[in-house]
Amino acid sequence: MNIPTRSIAAGLLVVGLTAVVLGKARAGGDDFFPPIADKLTAEECGGCHMAFPAAMLPAASWRRMMTELNDHFGDDASLDADTAARVTRYLVDHAADTGGRQYGRKLMKGIRADASPQRITELPKWIHEHDEVPRHEWKEKDVGSKANCPACHVDAKLGYFEDD
Ligand code: HEC
Ligand code: HEC
Repeated sequence: MNIPTRSIAAGLLVVGLTAVVLGKARAGGDDFFPPIADKLTAEECGGCHMAFPAAMLPAASWRRMMTELNDHFGDDASLDADTAARVTRYLVDHAADTGGRQYGRKLMKGIRADASPQRITELPKWIHEHDEVPRHEWKEKDVGSKANCPACHVDAKLGYFEDD
């Protein structure tokens, strides 16, 4: 057998998180963020990374992001005007301070009402939730980026993000 130890470590992390995620899911925990339910948005925003739940950022963030897609974190994620308008409407309607409030409110702690943060991973609450994750875990080659939620939260695409 020739399995790199790093993969085993990552695998164990995933197994551990899954157990907790399932426990929470059954208990109806508060770490659920509804996955993108709109097919167009899921397709257009799920090609390069998981389609992040709309309830993880406020409406102003999505509005701003959708007007800056030609320089989206260094990538060109441009959409035609009609598609962009439809995706924007979905994200804005389900944002952390609109229709997704019941799920997203806790992530908005410390965010000014007029702010439009562009990264979930830079929200103070997100940083706080992850401050006990050891530095080396972010560097695992299966993780690669803080934005790679499903690397650790195996049920992220179903909307479940664990806490212990
Ligand atoms: C062409 C590829 C591509 C497409 C298409 C794309 N993105 Fe991204 N996105 C990226 C890259 C690259 C990053 C930076 C990832 C990183 O830091 O690891 C990113 C990051 C993000 C982040 C911040 C993640 C964090 O760190 O919290 C959000 C939110 C986001 N994208 C939303 C969207 C939305 C909404 C759409 C659809 C309109 C979209 N993306 C489509 C490439 C893409
Ligand atoms: C390197 C692994 C890793 C990555 C990548 C990661 N997380 Fe986490 N996350 C964790 C761990 C571990 C915890 C639990 C921390 C604790 O309880 O001390 C956690 C906790 C959370 C929580 C708190 C759950 C609750 O009950 O409120 C949320 C929400 C969350 N993560 C969302 C995300 C999102 C969104 C992404 C991607 C943008 C992400 N995480 C990326 C490991 C990770």
